[in-house]
Amino acid sequence: MISLRPARHEDKPGILKIASSTWEGWDYVPLFVDAWIEEGGLYVAENDAEIVGITKTTDLDQGELWLEAIRVSEEHRGKGWGFRIAREQLDLALAENPVSIRLSTADVNSASLAVIRRLGFILYAEFSYFLSDEPPVSSSATQSVPTNKYDIVSVGQDKASNAWEYITNSEEYKTSHGLLPHTWKFYDWTPERLTELIERGLVYEPVGSHGLVIFIQNRYAPGSLELAFIEGEENVLDLLVHFVQGKFREEVTEGKFAAYAAGARKKGLIRRIGLKPHPRVKKVMVFDYPLFHPTGKP
Ligand SMILES: CC(C)(COP(=O)(O)OP(=O)(O)OC[C@H]1O[C@@H](n2cnc3c(N)ncnc32)[C@H](O)[C@@H]1OP(=O)(O)O)[C@@H](O)C(=O)NCCC(=O)NCCS
Repeated sequence: MISLRPARHEDKPGILKIASSTWEGWDYVPLFVDAWIEEGGLYVAENDAEIVGITKTTDLDQGELWLEAIRVSEEHRGKGWGFRIAREQLDLALAENPVSIRLSTADVNSASLAVIRRLGFILYAEFSYFLSDEPPVSSSATQSVPTNKYDIVSVGQDKASNAWEYITNSEEYKTSHGLLPHTWKFYDWTPERLTELIERGLVYEPVGSHGLVIFIQNRYAPGSLELAFIEGEENVLDLLVHFVQGKFREEVTEGKFAAYAAGARKKGLIRRIGLKPHPRVKKVMVFDYPLFHPTGKP
């Protein structure tokens, strides 16, 4: 019988062993294991004192719970332990009286999808996933646009409310149900999150026209940027596309160029930038657990 308990520092070798057999040895868990043990929310599942599974719950912001990194060691998969770990993790999350419980997975991950659906999660949003190892190259449509950096400027806090209105009126905001993508994690877009991105100098706008480009640091490769948001008036779109290409080329030091798009418009702009759809993962699916509050509102 397996049981779940909070991870301790001495569990690290057992945790890393499981991660080493996940996805042909490429797993992001080793990047975060120390920080997760410190902050809490990382659980291990033991069977006869052997670590056979892990999972992580993160409070993104005041009850916005995010579940990730569920793993069962390769030799024990398919025995029902993944479902048990996930069930227990969900029960622990529910006991925190959360505002939301969400997670994401790839459309090709059948085992993960089976667990998620059996637990009662509901599909919340679907994103196309774009990932390149090389900087995106200009399509012929954008090659003629000069790189004039002075046409696009960093947005200051004084413009935060305009930018917020721009985001919330966008097709992408509506199609994604107000989610901000961040390397397989999806947050609720809030004015506070926008303020933080502005502070980090990741939000840009064209001068004299309406538009917005927002980058976010890649969680798995801190020297890489993801394109979090792009939208603009027709006359400025080529300039925005060119700006993103230049930023990727000049500022990304670890070769990962990624973006997620729920709506047709953002997908089209990402293609114009030259980012390629991931070869295997056609959709990143975000699920939400239905919570019912005393007010009667979900
Ligand atoms: C996802 C994972 C945790 C599931 O753990 P598990 O112990 O193998 O799963 P279980 O034995 O509890 O099976 C749960 C469900 O998945 C189904 N399933 C298990 N392996 C499967 C597979 N390879 N293909 C399709 N379905 C599968 C089971 O039939 C079961 O479905 P049911 O409840 O409808 O009968 C495990 O496969 C794993 O560690 N995968 C690698 C890491 C990963 O992808 N994590 C999730 C994304 S972050």
